[in-house]
Amino acid sequence: MEVTSFLQMGVLFLLILSVLLLLKSWITSRAMGNIPGNMGWPIIGESFSFVSEFSSPSGVYSFISRRQQRYGKVFKSSILGRFTIFMTGRDASKILLTGKDGVVTLNLSAAGQQVLGSTSLLQTVGEPHKRLRRLIAEPLSIDALKNYFPFMNTLAVETLGQWPERRINVLEEVSTFTFKVISCMIMSLEPAGEEQEKFRSNFKLISSSFSSLPFKIPGTAFYSGMKARDRMYSMLDSIISRRRKGSEFQLDFLQSLLNKHSKKAGEDEEKLTDEQLKDNILTLLIAGHDTTTAALTWLIKFLEENPTVLERLREEHQGIQDTRKSGSTLTWSEVNNMPYTNKVISETLRKATILPWSSRKAAEDFIIDGFQIRKGWSIILDVVSIHHDPNIFPDPEKFDPSRFDAPLKPFSFLGFGGGPRMCPGINLAKLEISIFVHHLVCKYKWRSLEKDDAVQPTLVRMPKNKYPITVEQL
Ligand code: HEM
Repeated sequence: MEVTSFLQMGVLFLLILSVLLLLKSWITSRAMGNIPGNMGWPIIGESFSFVSEFSSPSGVYSFISRRQQRYGKVFKSSILGRFTIFMTGRDASKILLTGKDGVVTLNLSAAGQQVLGSTSLLQTVGEPHKRLRRLIAEPLSIDALKNYFPFMNTLAVETLGQWPERRINVLEEVSTFTFKVISCMIMSLEPAGEEQEKFRSNFKLISSSFSSLPFKIPGTAFYSGMKARDRMYSMLDSIISRRRKGSEFQLDFLQSLLNKHSKKAGEDEEKLTDEQLKDNILTLLIAGHDTTTAALTWLIKFLEENPTVLERLREEHQGIQDTRKSGSTLTWSEVNNMPYTNKVISETLRKATILPWSSRKAAEDFIIDGFQIRKGWSIILDVVSIHHDPNIFPDPEKFDPSRFDAPLKPFSFLGFGGGPRMCPGINLAKLEISIFVHHLVCKYKWRSLEKDDAVQPTLVRMPKNKYPITVEQL
């Protein structure tokens, strides 16, 4: 009897919840009435076509551009359970990325919010966000990065040394390289060994749970991700405790935060708690690893497809090499003086647009392009269209680093975002890529083994076939 009434209560609760959700959808949908677009099927919306176009060579761009042609630069849709306004253009990017007058906040998925933790930089706004940014800016500054330069340089030489004479899936190899770099920088993990392996396998599970449905049920990606997160946090706990006891000291990101910012009982509010420390270390890993991996992989692919650019890049690097004494390796001042390489990196980020959109939530009502946006609505800034706007980037499909010879108008190139949430890892990413590219183009040539432009259906755009190549010494 008791079980029956419990079940009845459950069904009633679900029924009420569904009615409330449908009512909320109906109200929001009506409020969006003045904005052009199609909401698709009830609840499902246009999710199927969004997901299926996600992995096509032009990715979500084909979903967006078709609707832009039909409805204009601002349109509405319903995807993955959210009513969403899509926008593009420099004006929209300026308003949405600078968060003018606090009109927008970041809009993480429900799974993303739980994975990163409530104190993550990506979940803080206003003053606490500014303060966290200041704290992490120091260990990611050019001066601090200088300490890791020898490690990155040696690792790049060693990694590339193993490439000739076998099939290389560039995405996988580069992913190992960038993970070793970031785990050394953050907490001085040795590049090989049991700890590195454990840390990496936990990270992979966490990373793939990021865009899953947030059901913590055994067998789901989200469940495995959250379990891996617990394991990673207990690893961090034991490192933090060793460092606090003084039984271990390293010159790394964690130590820098522990020395200056870690909060002990009774200390002032300005400092970080252990929870904030761990959430933000995970945030840097998640935000910095796949992005740098994808950028370096696309860059190597675009170079092979554009021999004239490769030749010019090689001239820059061989020029640097020729001025050096024989037997010596790349130096810190050399890596900071690679103007053409910088343009190649920017052009890679423009053409590939690794993060195809920025997602925000309206923190208050506001008007943009004449459309009324209401508090709580999800807004997607379509960056691919901005990066492929022929008025700013003529012949946008062409890979042409000379586009960056002259300065561009603000908010027309968003490879590292813009405004107060602009990427804090920009120097680290450029450093890793420049070092790797230097050794690659000076010593090796490579050939693709498959022609395939499909893109992985993940948040960070990467080649679906992992870009397989063969490599020879020059
Ligand atoms: C080529 C590699 C990278 C690219 C293309 C990239 C791109 C971006 C972009 C576009 C944003 C802004 C997102 C938005 O406004 O919605 C961003 C933010 C961020 N990036 Fe990067 N990133 C890269 C590497 C890194 C690295 C190496 C790190 C750290 C180790 C990092 C950490 C972050 C963090 C923490 C944020 C959030 C900042 C905030 O909300 O205040 N990124 N990145």
